[in-house]
Amino acid sequence: MKVIVCENYEEMSDKGAALIAAEVRQNPEAVLGLATGSSPIGMYSRLVAAYERGELDFSKVKTYNLDEYLPIDPANKNSYCAFMHEHLWDKVNLKPENCHIPNGNIALEDAEAQCAAYDDAIKAAGGIDLQLLGIGRNGHIGFNEPAESLSVGTHPVKLTESTLAANGPLFDDPSEMPRHAVTMGMGSIFSAKKILIIANGKAKHDAIKGLLNGGITTALPASILLLHPDVTLICDKEAYNG
Ligand code: F6R
Repeated sequence: MKVIVCENYEEMSDKGAALIAAEVRQNPEAVLGLATGSSPIGMYSRLVAAYERGELDFSKVKTYNLDEYLPIDPANKNSYCAFMHEHLWDKVNLKPENCHIPNGNIALEDAEAQCAAYDDAIKAAGGIDLQLLGIGRNGHIGFNEPAESLSVGTHPVKLTESTLAANGPLFDDPSEMPRHAVTMGMGSIFSAKKILIIANGKAKHDAIKGLLNGGITTALPASILLLHPDVTLICDKEAYNG
């Protein structure tokens, strides 16, 4: 794993955006795996700025997001779908039909069926060239939460207390936060040709420390990425040093 330690969030965002921009320039038909959350907001704003300066073309790029709450209406401002529209999809020349995210607007019982179709669609697109990941305070990636075993393909999950506590405050009424999500599985993520993880702030220190100094364990799902041949971690000093 290549590790790049930055001064702060701004530098992390600059470096992360530069890596994605390089991928898109080198392969205009790149398939990108994308994440939501606070970590990539600065990175997305830099990609939008590069597009506005005429330096990037997303017209042939395809994107597949990692995860979505379940159940949630895509029009709900807290949905990951709304997040992507706000921060990237509507601000660059991505074609709407090329922007994909698991559908959270279904009942939990019906989620399994769409999950296999999501993995099949990624495979049919040629697989993910570059997968962007944030990391949870508990080491989750996507919504693959610490557990005795981890799922391979896209699947529905019950969110942990740690994740509910971290994301609940983003909802006007935290009790409205869905208790489940649909997420790409570890296999779906691992199949990406390249992986970029970004992390900032002291709250991520334990997860980063576990990732860099611990072994591979399902108690820290991100640690599985230590086995992947092409992973870059870009984090700030606070996440790295605590
Ligand atoms: C979001 C996702 C999550 C986040 C993680 C970190 O699509 O998959 O795993 O990347 O929870 O979230 P932030 O960036 O908000 O700290």
